[in-house]
Amino acid sequence: MTEFSTILAEKHDGYALITLNRPEALNALNLEVMTELTAAAAEFDADPEVKSIVITGAGRAFAAGADIKEMKDLTFSKAYEADWFAGWQDLASVRKPIIAAVNGFALGGGCELAMMCDILIASEKAKFGQPEINLGVLPGMGGSQRLTRAIGKAKAMDLCLTGRFIGAEEAERSGLAARVVAPEALMDEAVSIAGVIAGKSRIASALVKEAVNLAFETTLDQGLRFERRLFHASLATADQKEGMAAFVEKRDPQFTDS
Ligand code: CAA
Repeated sequence: MTEFSTILAEKHDGYALITLNRPEALNALNLEVMTELTAAAAEFDADPEVKSIVITGAGRAFAAGADIKEMKDLTFSKAYEADWFAGWQDLASVRKPIIAAVNGFALGGGCELAMMCDILIASEKAKFGQPEINLGVLPGMGGSQRLTRAIGKAKAMDLCLTGRFIGAEEAERSGLAARVVAPEALMDEAVSIAGVIAGKSRIASALVKEAVNLAFETTLDQGLRFERRLFHASLATADQKEGMAAFVEKRDPQFTDS
């Protein structure tokens, strides 16, 4: 595994754990974090022993946003030429399930990073928001788009226009978080989800992720057709034969990711 300076990247049995590790800056997402996080995720995505990736933050934040100190003198020309933030698309393109274990502040780019993940687990201490409006800008890593799709226009407008923070319970009620747990139970919960996913077929997990994500992109009719085609394709896998045979034979399946 490559050595990183702004994140910790560890491989465990069946899953990988990435910890954003700039606690003194509340894990603000600078270019180096983006480069390292996307590189680590790509490495784990390519590793057949890793079935899912858990992302969390060290200290009291998941991530308090893109790094304001890095951006304060940024100009339009420089940002446009560099296509600032476009590199985050590499994380959204990871094919394995990503679990966000949101331990504290998930603001601006931090909330947007959590929304790029597939299962969002929040600690009761988590705080979500898109406070870019307070800086005279707007979300730039997907907040106006993914948040609106996740929680609807009413709440997305509320959060993006007022910059107010919401707690974990409101995030779950709104459809942003899948589960809320006590702070001390957060990592156990995330790892237990990773354990569940490790017992499934890697191919089936990737098919599920691809199909659900298409719901953000397309019409219902095209989405349903795509889902059916993926379902048909799943019949060509050894894991489908094993999964269905195991059900009929009343035993646990032994998936081989093939
Ligand atoms: N960028 C850079 N540094 C940040 C940061 C950020 N987004 N958020 C916090 N920090 C730094 C602070 O500057 C401070 O560093 P110093 O000790 O060197 O001053 C350190 O982290 C601790 O922060 P605070 O002292 O502010 O801690 P607090 O408990 O008083 O407040 C907070 C916590 C409410 C989260 C506050 O830090 C805050 O409002 N942060 C900024 C949140 C924000 O606006 N995020 C959006 C950024 S823009 C963006 O993300 C664009 C996009 O769409 C991608």
